[in-house]
Amino acid sequence: MSRIAVIAGDGIGPEVIRQAVNVLEAIGGCDIQRLPWSAEHYLATGETIPAGGYDLLRSFDAILVGALGDPRVPDNRHARDILLGTRFELDLYVNYRPVRLLDEKLCPLKGRTRADVDFVVFRENTEGVYVGVGGRFKADTDDEIAIQEEVNTYKGVHRIVRYAFEFARTHGLRRVCMADKSNAMPHGHALWQRVFRSLSREYPEIESSHLYVDALAMFLVQNPGQFQVIVTNNLFGDIITDIGGALQGGLGMAASGNIHPGRTSMFEPVHGSAPPLAGTNTANPIGAILAAALMLETLGRRDDAARIEAAVEAAVHAGEVTRDIGGTRGTDEAGDAIVRRLR
Ligand code: NAD
Ligand code: IPM
Ligand code: MN
Repeated sequence: MSRIAVIAGDGIGPEVIRQAVNVLEAIGGCDIQRLPWSAEHYLATGETIPAGGYDLLRSFDAILVGALGDPRVPDNRHARDILLGTRFELDLYVNYRPVRLLDEKLCPLKGRTRADVDFVVFRENTEGVYVGVGGRFKADTDDEIAIQEEVNTYKGVHRIVRYAFEFARTHGLRRVCMADKSNAMPHGHALWQRVFRSLSREYPEIESSHLYVDALAMFLVQNPGQFQVIVTNNLFGDIITDIGGALQGGLGMAASGNIHPGRTSMFEPVHGSAPPLAGTNTANPIGAILAAALMLETLGRRDDAARIEAAVEAAVHAGEVTRDIGGTRGTDEAGDAIVRRLR
């Protein structure tokens, strides 16, 4: 039995998570505990994550999250505590974001096939501009100075680049591309250059390449087939995986894992809470469902993960999907089309 904490969150989060939980129930072997942490909970109680909340999360085998973000919390405080806080506190340094096209007809690029869109992005998940180092001086005046530092540590860069190379080696992949902005950020990103060059020597069978992230963004659209494994920092990884989502048919298709190998890890769709879609039964549940599959895979339940992926693929081929990817179904009905295939 896998003990799973579920944080449905805000906006479309609860709607897509309901479908992911239905899928987990159809698969079986999951003991699910729902945690109410969300904008609603914060506005009602003043609490983002309770005292001992991260320890509580650590007591589960894995965590499944919907999305966090609500216009009623403009400073995004609750999301920083619940989502980013968990990434930091549980030291989930690998943000694993696979980009796979499930059906040619979903790709927005002309003439591209499934073989052209099949790579993984490893986004550093515990450092960069996300650490919150900085501040505002003379805030809200015309003399305001706003500083947001980017933090890169040897340990942080080394472990994510190592993970990317190890993943390539153990999955029989031949190419790893590191993206940075060392031309404009010679201090912070020289560290990325040094670590990548030195680790690449330990993987002679793998073709190591480097791109500035602006060029990477261009190539992801022009020729995504050249990529197998991409490794990059926290902010660039955030941005390019939205491009990755688009390549798969839309953000609603993309799944991710926030992983610390061997420890409690957190899984979520790549998309956010999409406030305009909330309550309309139109959100695509596939990203959340594939995040649940990634979770089971990471827990060692490969067959269960493969069954979910096959059911999703079949529903996509049959067109039993939501409007964002060309179907006519609502969130619930698109989820049912997947659950039915698992029964
Ligand atoms: P978003 O991902 O919520 O939406 C971007 C676009 O993609 C919108 O057009 C939306 O309708 C569409 N979209 C997203 N998910 C979809 C789905 N499942 N099905 C169909 N269409 C979908 O990004 P945003 O609008 O920039 O952010 C909204 C809120 O979500 C903000 O508060 C933001 O901070 C938050 N956010 C949270 C997470 C997270 O919890 N991991 C991720 C991204 C954004
Ligand atoms: C993501 C999101 C988050 C991030 C936001 C909500 C802080 O965009 O998980 O991709 O930037 O990491
Ligand atoms: Mn993002």
